[in-house]
Amino acid sequence: MDTILVTGALGQIGSELVPTLRTRYEDVEVVASDIEPDPDVPGPYEAVDVTDRAQVEAVIEKYDVDTVFHLAALLSAAGEQNPDRAFNVNVGGLHNVLEVGREYELDRIVIPSSIAVYGPATPDNPSERTIRSPTTMYGITKVLAENLGAYYHEKYDLDVRGIRLPGIVSHKTRPNGGTTDYAVDAFYEAVWEGEYTYFVREDTRLPMVYMSDAIDALIALAEADESDLQYQCEYNISALSFTAKELSERIEERINEFDARYDPDERQSIADSWPSTLDDTAARSDWGWSAEYDLDKMVDEMVHNLRQRTEGALS
Ligand code: SER
Repeated sequence: MDTILVTGALGQIGSELVPTLRTRYEDVEVVASDIEPDPDVPGPYEAVDVTDRAQVEAVIEKYDVDTVFHLAALLSAAGEQNPDRAFNVNVGGLHNVLEVGREYELDRIVIPSSIAVYGPATPDNPSERTIRSPTTMYGITKVLAENLGAYYHEKYDLDVRGIRLPGIVSHKTRPNGGTTDYAVDAFYEAVWEGEYTYFVREDTRLPMVYMSDAIDALIALAEADESDLQYQCEYNISALSFTAKELSERIEERINEFDARYDPDERQSIADSWPSTLDDTAARSDWGWSAEYDLDKMVDEMVHNLRQRTEGALS
């Protein structure tokens, strides 16, 4: 591995994955890319619209990229607002990366999938091959992405890997356009305003993971021996599973005067279509996955970091 390209580098995951990769692999060049032309981020950075194959090819050629973490995507709620764009970015963008990857014989492409591949017909605690019949455009694009990854691996011997990520809780970059965003928004609003109105019911329970565990998972899968992997892009990981109310209670234990309200909108039906826990036996046995953060440790760290940021901004 000499040069890594990260697409979607300005997003929730990318903004933490890029610095982690740069620290971990000192001799490897990590090129950040996203659709914005001129963000204020440490370089190297390239503006790349993944739906334009020529732009994908140009950056891979320019930096002699051998490994890609392809994060650029529209999430579930944004995908329901704009299904056409979600399809173009999530499927067209991935197809471009895979095609250029094949042509340039890349060593490895890592693509996050999502719990959104499951749907209302899926029983709780599904394993990798349990029925995937999503009812969102986002979920449909992710099933397609998983299958495309397996196809390019089988047909062209391209090393494509991925994890089905649950909702990710983090304090550096706020997620945008996802259904699980409430689990991050609640912290910001609790620390900043002392109140938050969830867009889901209080009994909504979804699988979640703290960002540092999600990053560790992506890196562990990327570094795993290919011979140890029984799946390409379908690995479930399981870390946390809590209701909105349980989250509010834990936040309230640390912040006096947190007023949590619940006013479900159209995102409730998306949340209701996903399982609340996942079977991650394969990730544990194939590449050693386990989560470090439980709910209390995560809430402690979120509240601490957001408070520090608020104090920093005020001083
Ligand atoms: N966080 C994603 C979403 O809510 C799920 O993978 O859309």
